[in-house]
Parts: sequence; structure tokens; C-alpha cells
Amino acid sequence: MNEIPRGTLEQQTFFESVGGEETFRRLVHRFYEGVAEDPVLRPMYPEEDLGPAEERLTLFLMQYWGGPRTYSDERGHPRLRMRHTPFRVDRAAHDAWLRHMRDAVDSLGLAPEHERQLWDYLVYAAASMINTAE
Ligand code: HEM
Repeated sequence: MNEIPRGTLEQQTFFESVGGEETFRRLVHRFYEGVAEDPVLRPMYPEEDLGPAEERLTLFLMQYWGGPRTYSDERGHPRLRMRHTPFRVDRAAHDAWLRHMRDAVDSLGLAPEHERQLWDYLVYAAASMINTAE
């Protein structure tokens, strides 16, 4: 009677806790609205249409947080640092990327603990993507 059924609380992934695919789609869609208007970031994207890039980042983040593994099914091992080597990710690009992510995270209205977890990861991941000396 007082038991918590297995799989209801402790086994829920972060992906599920924050609302699943819809939440990650909202996050990355908002982020790319910022990128589309950004003078530093927009020219870095090789494709005219940002839709496919939006889809790749969405699928990557869903997979990272415990959702479906569609990203790797389609793209293979993430190797994100390697995939960014064709682009010059300097401090200015890093700062712009995080600024648009901050705005996108804020737009979700997550519980503070989830928001902090997501944000800490994005800050760490963005720093690790810098590939210039300055
Ligand atoms: C720090 C600043 C960053 C800049 C300026 C940047 C820029 C870019 C650019 C120009 C692309 C190519 C667009 C495409 O064809 O998909 C890309 C791809 C991608 N980025 Fe970033 N990025 C940054 C950080 C990050 C971070 C922190 C993550 C993960 C949390 C990330 C995840 C991805 C993914 C998953 C792709 C698609 C990789 C693929 O499958 O080809 N990026 N990024």
C-alpha cells in the first residue's frame, strides 16, 4: 500500500521529467530563432535552411538526456568536438551561442532544479566546444 511502484519515480529519465520531445523541440526552436538573427553565428551555418541543423541539435539533446536514440541512428557517434572543427568556435561565438540558449531555456518555464541541471550542462558543453586559442 505504501510502496512506490517500480519505474514511476526513480527510473524516470530527465527527458521524461521535463516533458519529453515537445520540450526539446521548443528549446531548440527558440534557440534557432536567435541564431537566425545573430551576426556572429548565422554566417557559420553552411546551409541556407537552418531546419536540418535545428533537427540535429534537437535529436542530439533528446538522446543525451535519456530520450530516443534517433540521433545516433541517423548520425552515428556524436563526436561533437570533432564535428565542430570545420567551424571557428571562439569566445565570441561561444558567448552568442550561450546567450541564445539562455533565452531558450528561460522560455521553457522548467522547475528550478531541472533548469539548473540543463543550464549547467549547456555551459559545460559550450566551453568544451571552443577550438581557438583566444
Ligand atoms: C559554443 C558554440 C557553438 C557553436 C558556435 C556551434 C556551431 C555549430 C555549427 C555551425 C554547426 C553546423 C550546423 C549543422 O550542420 O548542424 C553545429 C552543429 C552541431 N552542434 Fe554546435 N555549436 C556550438 C556548441 C554546441 C554545443 C554546446 C552542442 C551540444 C550541447 C552542440 C551540438 C551540435 C550538434 C549536435 C550539431 C550537429 C552535428 C552533426 O550531427 O553533424 N553545439 N554547431
